[in-house]
Amino acid sequence: MKDIPKVKLAPSILSADFGRLGEQVAEASRAGADYIHVDVMDGHFVPNLTIGAPVVTAIRPWTKLPLDVHLMIEAPERQVKHFADAGADIITVHIETCSHIHRVVQMIKGLGIKAGVSLNPATPLDMLDEILPELDLVLVMTVNPGFGGQTFIKGMLDKIVRLRAGLDLKGLTVELEVDGGISAETAPKVVKAGARVLVAGTAVFNSQRTVKESLAAIRDSINQG
Ligand code: DX5
Ligand code: ZN
Repeated sequence: MKDIPKVKLAPSILSADFGRLGEQVAEASRAGADYIHVDVMDGHFVPNLTIGAPVVTAIRPWTKLPLDVHLMIEAPERQVKHFADAGADIITVHIETCSHIHRVVQMIKGLGIKAGVSLNPATPLDMLDEILPELDLVLVMTVNPGFGGQTFIKGMLDKIVRLRAGLDLKGLTVELEVDGGISAETAPKVVKAGARVLVAGTAVFNSQRTVKESLAAIRDSINQG
């Protein structure tokens, strides 16, 4: 594979050991992560409940890397300021949760941080048409959000290809991030399709390998693509 720009890896702490979260964040940072991905779930938009802004405050001192906060919650506009104050560098909201996505994106950017929008697997790309030039990042879900360790949905590769083509055609430098089922097996495929930020949870935090070995395996798979 040639002419692929640098790909960023964003370990998801959802699969980390919550009993020593700070250390796990520091370990991922030392191991060559580019972002730390923080999955926030509310038990309503998705059938799982995780963490709130105080946990972002708690991990903030453990890394200098950008904290990439993925809000899988209803009414995210009620929470964005709390997460920004806690130290988030990027906040991504789901388009399915926002009647006024333009307002929410402006709210996030008004807090001096980057704004992302995420799409569930069944949400069409054209939902982004009017908001795309305002965004710093688009997050394409490659599983249905809610849990780590799910199987990558292969049909999402075509969606990534179409989004990459649309961004390039419009000359937009919006980051294209993918999330769900990313491993050394799927990473080269999503990069080839056009993804440039890869979230990975169980492929990074697991009992088979160290965090460093896991990140290296994903990087090697991309380089050998
Ligand atoms: C899924 C979350 C993901 C999750 C990915 O709803 O948004 O970030 O942690 O986990 P893996 O990489 O195990 O699919
Ligand atoms: Zn996520």
